[in-house]
Amino acid sequence: MPSGRLAGKTAIVTGSSSGIGQGIALRFASEGANVVIDFHGHPEAGEETRAKAEASGVKAILVKSDVSKIADTANLVEQAWSQLGGCDVLVNNAGVEKNAAFLDVTEDDYDLVLDTNLKGAFFLTQAFVKRLRDEKMRGCVINMSSVHEDMVFPNFATYCASKGGVRMLMRDLAVELGPMGIRVNNIAPGAISTPINKSLLEDKPKLDALLKNIPLGRSGSVEDVAGLAVYLASDEAAYVTGSTFVVDGGLMRNYHEQ
Ligand code: NAI
Repeated sequence: MPSGRLAGKTAIVTGSSSGIGQGIALRFASEGANVVIDFHGHPEAGEETRAKAEASGVKAILVKSDVSKIADTANLVEQAWSQLGGCDVLVNNAGVEKNAAFLDVTEDDYDLVLDTNLKGAFFLTQAFVKRLRDEKMRGCVINMSSVHEDMVFPNFATYCASKGGVRMLMRDLAVELGPMGIRVNNIAPGAISTPINKSLLEDKPKLDALLKNIPLGRSGSVEDVAGLAVYLASDEAAYVTGSTFVVDGGLMRNYHEQ
């Protein structure tokens, strides 16, 4: 029987074949949670993550999904119940960003970013909560938003619109779902070293300029984010809902809008 701060729990983590999602899924597994590893485009990375999670002594399954498709979000929840017997924790982590000046944003850009980051979190949460309601279970939702749920990011208007939407979605659902015993919180990472910001991390002048604005003087790691996710998913956070928790080395506090 696995032990740990999440022993006995089961979690779906979207976009968990890489980056922050992978770090959270592996950390959850090491804390005793069964995990649904969700991948979009990279089955080998997904299978590698699943195998590593299972090596912690928990059950780990691999499900392919495009979270922007409602049928796929319903299937993720269905797989958690049919293969793992239920689910207590949903981490809406999958996300994309697209660099484009506002006047150049196309409908395809808009749909890709908003449908993945906002619609995906919206309808996957809806499918999860419907199941919790039917099974008379409590639960916990953690959305991976961003410092850009609050902080401007010129040339990333679609990303900011999606993450700003996730900020209000979390606040609204914390109130609407609180009476069902469902907690909803956001983690807002900033400057975490992952594939999504590979080009920035490889551009030394841009990276140096960014690091100057980070009081702790370094970029973050997926482990920096995963530790907070474990806390929010655990019973230690039983009275915590409706908040955004920033993990950014102090970047937001040190940032002055132009
Ligand atoms: P990443 O690119 O490694 O992770 C994104 C994951 O989402 C990938 O596994 C990708 O396959 C998956 N994904 C993309 N579209 C999908 C879809 N339609 N359906 C299912 N999965 C899909 O990058 P990272 O950094 O780990 O990003 C994770 C989350 O953290 C994202 O929501 C991102 O916006 C957020 N974030 C990251 C920050 C950073 O500094 N790395 C800062 C702020 C927020």
